Amino acid sequence: MSFKSLFRKKSLSLIVQQEKQGESVILNKVLSVKDLTFFGIAAIIGGGTFSAIGNACFSGGPAVILLYIICAIACGFTALCYAEFAVRVPVSGSAYTYAYVSFGELFAWIIGWALLMEYSIGNIYIAFSWSGYFTNLLDGFGLHLPEWLTINYRAAHTAFLNAAKDPVQKVGEGLIAWNNAPQFIGLRIIFDLPAVLINIFITWLVYKGTKESKNISNIMVMIKLAVILLIIIVGLFYVDIENWVPFMPNGFGGVMAGVSAVFFAYIGFDAVSTLAEDCKNPQRDLPRGMIYSLIICTVIYIVLALVLTGMVSYSLLSVTDPLAEIFKIKEVKWMIFIVSIAAVVAMTSVLIVFQMGQPRIWMTMSRDGLLPKRFSSIHPKYKTPGFATIITGFVVGIPMFFTDENFILDFTSIGTLFAFVLVCGGVLMLPQRIKDENNIATIGKFYLPYINAKWIFPSIVIFAFFSIQFFIPDFFISKLSFASDAIAANIPMLVFFILCVIMSILSFTKNLSLIPVLGLISCCYLLTGMAVSNWIWFSIWLAIGLAVYFLYSYKNSKLAIK
Ligand code: ALA
Repeated sequence: MSFKSLFRKKSLSLIVQQEKQGESVILNKVLSVKDLTFFGIAAIIGGGTFSAIGNACFSGGPAVILLYIICAIACGFTALCYAEFAVRVPVSGSAYTYAYVSFGELFAWIIGWALLMEYSIGNIYIAFSWSGYFTNLLDGFGLHLPEWLTINYRAAHTAFLNAAKDPVQKVGEGLIAWNNAPQFIGLRIIFDLPAVLINIFITWLVYKGTKESKNISNIMVMIKLAVILLIIIVGLFYVDIENWVPFMPNGFGGVMAGVSAVFFAYIGFDAVSTLAEDCKNPQRDLPRGMIYSLIICTVIYIVLALVLTGMVSYSLLSVTDPLAEIFKIKEVKWMIFIVSIAAVVAMTSVLIVFQMGQPRIWMTMSRDGLLPKRFSSIHPKYKTPGFATIITGFVVGIPMFFTDENFILDFTSIGTLFAFVLVCGGVLMLPQRIKDENNIATIGKFYLPYINAKWIFPSIVIFAFFSIQFFIPDFFISKLSFASDAIAANIPMLVFFILCVIMSILSFTKNLSLIPVLGLISCCYLLTGMAVSNWIWFSIWLAIGLAVYFLYSYKNSKLAIK
């Protein structure tokens, strides 16, 4: 094994050649720009909006909208980079394929491995949130499932441990589940049945075919957009601007504590790029679909966060169903029912998009020889990657029995941000494309505007450093503290400072393109908000991925065989 071979690159011309030879043209090409935008919205508005937003508002107060804006900026730059890549590499595979072209095989593998978290592990969180709202709905119809069938084992166990420490606390769902669960050879049977069942249903739906999934997805997006609009309109009547004071009750640290939850709400626009092989005109439609959906969702989030924190005190929002909770508090009963139905619908559509995306990434990796051949087998009748779809179902379904939603949320966000950083970095490594106004073939295509970062980026960094020093005088001193209890928590921020300096130097000396530089830096900034424990879990995950790469993929890669 040579060091150089780890970075062997798949050439763009090879990809385009494969496309032309029909090797990639197997799936049904049915999606238009409208469908792609709908797919984007279907993926973006889900568990993050209906569930995780509650805790983000609780920790950040009304100022959580700042975090929504920061995340929107980071995702906006990243979406432009995704779009640039999607135009150049119009085949399935998402960031994985992009990394293969720009960074080489090892990075491509790492990114594919990280995307597994975004697509499959993220679906576990959404399935848990889905189950919460679904169970509420069933309760509304007088059908009560026992608690040990509606919560995951780990959450119930945590509730039991907390109760043992603090016996006078309120008895919640987790403790009821723990106490009432039937036992089998000494082991309590506790699992989230609705989450397991929705995963089986979605897997079946996606297995059956793109067209069917697309139609259902479009209807669901219509319903959820209509209901979110209704929530905003009805909610506006209950907004009391007194609730926006204090604006930042827990300081900026409190705002940043919600980074996993807020960022999670934005994940999804990139899933559109995994559908390159399913759409009619990927070069034109993919970037548009991604950017349109991101813009629409950003506006919705900012308004929604303002309505939420304006209707009730932020301190009441630490619940898993905050959009229903605000109407419970205001006693608007009819809205509670509508919100619960919308939440179930919204999260179902997110589940579909991600469950479609994952097998398509595997399919591409398998075609490249990095995964066994079966992952790229196409179902003769349904024309979907059948085997990979079923495996995705297992990857989502099995951890549901062992994990809880908080762990999953952090894990998904860190993995996705990592992938985004590599995408922005990848764009920086691609050669510039010159727009030719007279070339018919390039008309209507997306071009990432080139703005020279030479002076602009270092100026932004210097301005930011001085502003922080001016407004928060002890910020840098606290971040540079080597006190034993602070050092671990400060490491991500220290690395970020160093990265800012390195990128300033590179921008100045290499005339880098501003948009990918800002995308990379803003995503890295969000990564600094992740707890150290998440970094440890993420590192273990990466180590396992590398082991798989060296034991299987390196040897079987098509680039190795050539
Ligand atoms: N953005 C998606 C959601 O919030 C992942 O469910």
